[in-house]
Order: sequence, then structure tokens, then C-alpha cells
Amino acid sequence: MDTQTIAILDFGSQYTQLIARRIREQNVFSVVLPCTAPLAEIRALKPIGLILSGGPSSVYDDDAPAADPQILELGVPVLGVCYGLHYIVHHLGGKVLSAPKREYGHAEVTLEDLSTPLFAGLPPAIQVWMSHGDEAVELPAGFRRVAATSNALAGIANEERGIWAVQFHPEVHHTPLGPQLIRNFLTICGARGDWTAAHFIESTVASIREKVGDGHVICGLSGGVDSSVAAVLVHKAIGNRLTCIFVNNGVLRKNEFVSVQENLRGKLGLNIVGVNASARFLERLAGVTDPEVKRKRIGAEFIAVFEDEAHRIARETLGPEGKLDWLVQGTLYPDVIESSSVKGPSQTIKSHHNVGGLPERMKLKLIEPLRDLFKDEVRRIGRDLGMPEEILSRQPFPGPGLAVRILGEVTPERVALLQEADEIVVSEIKAAGLYTKIWQSFAVLLPVMSVGVMGDQRTYAYTCAIRAVHSEDGMTADWTPLSYDLLKRISNRIVNEVRGINRVVYDITSKPPGTIEWE
Ligand code: XMP
Repeated sequence: MDTQTIAILDFGSQYTQLIARRIREQNVFSVVLPCTAPLAEIRALKPIGLILSGGPSSVYDDDAPAADPQILELGVPVLGVCYGLHYIVHHLGGKVLSAPKREYGHAEVTLEDLSTPLFAGLPPAIQVWMSHGDEAVELPAGFRRVAATSNALAGIANEERGIWAVQFHPEVHHTPLGPQLIRNFLTICGARGDWTAAHFIESTVASIREKVGDGHVICGLSGGVDSSVAAVLVHKAIGNRLTCIFVNNGVLRKNEFVSVQENLRGKLGLNIVGVNASARFLERLAGVTDPEVKRKRIGAEFIAVFEDEAHRIARETLGPEGKLDWLVQGTLYPDVIESSSVKGPSQTIKSHHNVGGLPERMKLKLIEPLRDLFKDEVRRIGRDLGMPEEILSRQPFPGPGLAVRILGEVTPERVALLQEADEIVVSEIKAAGLYTKIWQSFAVLLPVMSVGVMGDQRTYAYTCAIRAVHSEDGMTADWTPLSYDLLKRISNRIVNEVRGINRVVYDITSKPPGTIEWE
């Protein structure tokens, strides 16, 4: 059976991705397209419904986003949200003006016409989240007002044309009954709600099998959720024609090189080549203190190691002329949306280590089995695939690993110190039941030596900073107020168990203005 799709046209709202997630939470697939997407591209998706997102512009501005007004003639139900409402009103002959009173934040909306199917099962008044400065003052022919706040219109409907729009944001948490409204729209669209983890796995595995044919596939494992789930999906499709390479770059966490292999090879049967290239990486990092140079050296070395291994594997499994055909990448949907966003890619503060140069150099074609998924969906798929929770709930860990948590030069001695301290932080956070509730929690080794006293001995040793942050997506973050008891336990253990660190401090900086990693 075909996958039913809801198309979301993005007019630049910070909440557009949330709309996509709310729909998927109802087991219906959704796709975000820039509002400027050509009509043919939207039609090709065969959407069962269309949602027009909010956005920062005014429809009457000269530089308002140029969506094709034919989108309102696709013959499928349409839901406008905030700017989407203004767009519908403006393009169908109504009038939108700047409102005398801007509405921002919590508001109460009266659902004046509960007979419209968009409001099925909702009470006569609901709490919502508003964020707009414009308002519709004249409705196009055939439309009527179906909801309002005490000072402005909040919803319109035209059942005959199958178009609805609301001024508030049903996709945000501050609109508690928003999911019901979205569910109602999906019902109007005739959604079956059958886009489940099992459905995704089945159709993805089938399409990988078809795409790869009898080709050979290679995958760089990082030990993180994305590359692991991507590899397990491909393995399910083609078995041992997938070879995974897991490189020890010398700046992994304590025991990680062994435990990742145990989990993925031992428990899931993946064909993994573990390459211990620690010495090579640490040599390249000797004397380097600039964070961006560290990133570049690790990135370049990774590509070199990966390429060597891939050639060796090709020769050994396929003969002297043998060639691998495909590379698996764990690209996620937010990256896909970001790269085609109407706002353009966001500014780079830190160059992130990835394998970007690899496919072109090695002439490999890409398989990206997760490019339609959000992170929480990847975890759901992983659970359905029977993957260990240890992998699925792992906190994000940067590609350049501990190298960007060792300020100043990375030396084998410093790596060993930080591995010990980091292990203590992670195990105490886990013991406190906080590991999966915190976005990231880790230790940072500072090149600051200070005097201490242990027993009757004077010590002169390194300082370690503890960092714990809450975040939705890593773009912004709040420092986490860990309890004093927990901080005390972590500090005591580090100073007592890690010879070489005699002082522990706690980082209380949010992002912005700080970043999550120290480098
Ligand atoms: P920052 O430090 O920029 O981090 O606030 C945001 C998120 O990105 C991760 N991070 C990286 N990930 N390569 C990666 O793969 C990198 O070079 C890198 N730098 C930061 C960081 O751990 C956080 O989750």
C-alpha cells in the first residue's frame, strides 16, 4: 500500500518541523517543503493534505515568500497555520492588515462553530499559543469565521473547498488540545494512520534491497544512534554484503572501542571491522591547540584511514579489481530540511567533523535510510529492530570526541585522565536516573594546574569542569541544575580516583552565549 503523505509548505516559521512531528506522532507520514517548491514537486508526492506553516513575513510585503497560489487548487484538504491563514485569505481575495494589537503568548480561543469537522470533539473554548502581528479583516467569498479570541479572528473554514485555517499554533505544547485539532485535520484528509515503525522498517528494507541489487556497501560507524540504526537497517536488507568500519581515533570514551563492537557485532550480528588507529590520530594531534585545526586533522585522518580500510576490504572480499559501490550515511531529516530551507543553512560556528569528502573521492553512491526521520523516530525504529537501549539512548558525542574536551594540546596522558573523569560523570549521572533526561553530560579537562592537599601531601594537578545541559536539538541549551549531592559525589570520586586531577568546577553557562562543547 502506498505511503500516505501530508505535505507541509514552510513559510519560515520556527515551528514548521514541529508540525511535521505532530503529524508523524499520529502515524501519518509528513514532508516539509520550502514554500517556493514548484507545484509539480508537490503534486509528485501525491499528498492527501496540505498544511501551510506560519512565517515571519507579512503577506502584503513586497518580499513575502513567493509560493504558487495554485497550491490552493490541488484538490486536497488544506490547513493554514498563522501566516498560512493570512496567505489563504490574501490569495483568495480577502484582506490582511497589520493588527492594532499584536497577539503573542497564551490566549483563550472560543470555537464559535463546533460543527466544522476541524473542531470535532473539542470544547467551546481552548487554550492556545499565539504569535502574530497581522490579522484577516475581510474574508474571501465562501469562508466564514469559526473561532475568535476576545480581540481578533482565530479560525476560518470553507468546507466546500476543503480549506481551514487557524491563527494560533496547534503544533506547540502551549496549545494542549492542538494534537486533537491536528488529528481532526488528518481525519478530514482520510489518513489511515498506518505509518508505524514496522511499516517504515519493512518498506525501507525493501527499497534498500532493490536499490543495492547485488552491490557491496560500506558504513562508517561512530558508535552513535544514527549510524548504528542506519547500519542495522542495511544489514537487515543485504546481510553481510554490508561491511561496517569502526575507527578508534584515540579520543573515544573509556571502553567505547570494545563496547560498541560487542553490542553491534555480538548482539546484532553486524559485520564490523574495528580499526585501532589511535596512534596515527594522536600523532597528528601532537602540538595542536587550535580547536578548528584539531577538527580538521581528525576529519582528514578519518578519511585517510577509512579509505585505506575500504580498499583493503574490497580487495580481500571481491578480488584485486573489486570495488565497493555504496556508502551508508546516517543523515537525518532536520539536516535535509535545513539544506533546502527558505532561510538557508544556518551559520556555522564550529566546523563539524563528518565524512563529507568521502563519497566523491571514492566514487561511492549514497544510501541514507534515515533521511526522512527525526531523532526520536530513529530511536523508535531502533527499538523495533531490537537494538540495545545502551546504543539508542546514548547522549550525542562529537565526531572529534574528547579532543574538543581537552583544552590545549591533546596528549595520550590527558586523554587517559579525561576518559577516567568522563566515565565517573556518566556513571554517576546514570545512577541518579538522569542520563536519558539530560541532553549531554560530560567532563572537560582544563589546562589549568592548581595546588591541592591530599592526606598530608601537597598536590599540583589539573582542573576538570563538569558540563550538563538540557536541549531540544543542540542549537540552544540550558545548563542543568544538578543537585549539590550529585555534584559532591562526582567531585569526590574524580579527585579521589583520578590521579592527576585535584580540582572540579561546574559550568553554569547556557547556549547562547556559551556553546555546549568547550571548543
Ligand atoms: P556546540 O558545542 O556547537 O555543540 O554548542 C552543539 C552540538 O554539536 C556537537 N558538536 C559536534 N558534533 N562534530 C560533531 O559531530 C563536531 O565537531 C562537534 N562540535 C560540537 C555537540 O556535542 C553538541 O551536541
